Amino acid sequence: MKILAIESSCDETSIAIVEDGRNVIINKIYSQIDIHKKYGGVVPEIASRNHVIKLPYVLESALTESQLTFDDIDAIAVTHGPGLVGALLVGVSAAKALAYALNKPLIGVNHIEGHIAANYIQFPDLKPPFLTLVVSGGHTYLIQVNAYESYTILGRTLDDAAGEAFDKVARVLGYPYPGGPAIDQAAREGNAEAVKFPRVFLDKNSFDFSFSGLKSAVLNYINHCKQKNIEFKREDIAASFQAAVLDVLVEKTCHCAKKTGLKKVCIAGGVSANQGLRTRMKKQAGEEGITVYYPDLVLCTDNAAMIGSMAYYDYQAGKTSDLYLNAEPGLNIE
Ligand code: KG4
Ligand code: ZN
Repeated sequence: MKILAIESSCDETSIAIVEDGRNVIINKIYSQIDIHKKYGGVVPEIASRNHVIKLPYVLESALTESQLTFDDIDAIAVTHGPGLVGALLVGVSAAKALAYALNKPLIGVNHIEGHIAANYIQFPDLKPPFLTLVVSGGHTYLIQVNAYESYTILGRTLDDAAGEAFDKVARVLGYPYPGGPAIDQAAREGNAEAVKFPRVFLDKNSFDFSFSGLKSAVLNYINHCKQKNIEFKREDIAASFQAAVLDVLVEKTCHCAKKTGLKKVCIAGGVSANQGLRTRMKKQAGEEGITVYYPDLVLCTDNAAMIGSMAYYDYQAGKTSDLYLNAEPGLNIE
């Protein structure tokens, strides 16, 4: 079964064709990062307008490069939430038009579930149950994936998402948007023990996260240095901040894996591209007999292939959508 999938929830316009949930035939991604960089973050209205402009070209190149036609496509999938409402609407409208005109099934996909499914593409034999840490620009979750369509949320952020904290700290340090990759790179050149930033574990048995206190601590430290004319190396701040985030993410994930008895841990979402997180999680979880999975970098950040993969399992479970499908900016994972 070949699914044509559309992703437009934030600042990537992406179209993929995925066969049977695991085989990516094509995954075209047009990133708007350069457009939003000068504003220091994503401007929703500009994102929506650029999706409208770019989507037809991305679609055309996906079909041309894969040498497929609409006749080869069995269903149309689209991210319908969570995300920016205007951005989502562009993808949803395009998907509905295609499904209607071509008379093919329509599958509305949850973006967070899509991030998890990126691991199905990377690891063809990976099957639930497993534990997953979803860390993106807008979300931080620890989720027990019981089956393809069954999730138990064990923890979530109470304030900022992990990626959001990376972006905000990077901005204050003068790195361009998106800040995650810049901090990741700088952290490799800095001293992670230069500043001891707080590790917020909340209650010992809680799998929830909180990053706003850490973010404020970093900002206060930088302001303090500036006021007192104390010199600091921004690579050291980046490394110290990243170490504080990773300590909490890795510790809680390993604790959660132990508590649930799950021996497989997948990381997903934009922050799963973080080299430090990948290395630390593999090492610490590995020492505890847990196998760690993460996708290639291109499948960590937003892309339509992961949506095409998840859509296959939605379809298998009979979860198709009708033409009333709407953008749902606050869509929850069920
Ligand atoms: O999943 P994603 O592409 O979009 C959302 O669904 O939010 O995640 C984007 C987030 C941004 O906050 C970005 O700074 C972060 O992922 N990110 C990283 C890295 N690459 C992207 N954070 C830390 N290290 C990275 N290498
Ligand atoms: Zn995402």
